[in-house]
Amino acid sequence: MLITIPDILNAGELDEVRDLLAKTAWSDGRKTAGPEAAKVKRNEQADLSSRTGATLHTKLNDAIRKNAVFQAAAQPARLSRLLVSRSGVGQGYGTHVDNALMGTGANRLRTDLSFTLFLSEPDEYEGGELTIDWAGMVHSMKLEAGSLLLYPSTSLHRVEPVSSGQRTVCVGWVQSQVRTSEQRDILFDLANLKVSMRSSLPEAAPEHLALSKVIANLRRLWSEV
Ligand code: NI
Repeated sequence: MLITIPDILNAGELDEVRDLLAKTAWSDGRKTAGPEAAKVKRNEQADLSSRTGATLHTKLNDAIRKNAVFQAAAQPARLSRLLVSRSGVGQGYGTHVDNALMGTGANRLRTDLSFTLFLSEPDEYEGGELTIDWAGMVHSMKLEAGSLLLYPSTSLHRVEPVSSGQRTVCVGWVQSQVRTSEQRDILFDLANLKVSMRSSLPEAAPEHLALSKVIANLRRLWSEV
């Protein structure tokens, strides 16, 4: 599933993030790419190890984690460290697949889902679309600042070259409790059904319990903890 999640950051949070970004140091993005991806990666990455960078990381991480739609769609077991990248004119990221395994020690994870949280408004740059080949279709996406795109890490994807302005995003990866995209989709549909049933059926209706049982039992079958 490809899903867009609006309002991960509200306007106030976005302003705070942008203020912090203005005080952050940047370096060549190829340092954090695998050897194959490094050949096609052309961007800069924010130094999130500084005090300002750590504050920025916490703010972004908290906003993503607390989002209910993100939780329901991704069912995260683990979340990677986040990266904040910017691409100026002529920069982008050629077609690649993300590394299957990332991080070391306690931060080690299998990448089931990738996400991009847009930090620039679409009218601040031209080009720079995130293009994803998924299920035989090509999706080219540019979201509003504060919105997140969640997509399977199994896909080939790229960032089109920026032709004017500057594109800033936060990216990260999820190891899901539910490994396959098909199973996550079913659980996400059922979670949405449960929410919509609340407006049409009384709380005590047996259908609520029946659906809760189905969801719980599918999670028993499909979850890794
Ligand atoms: Ni990628």
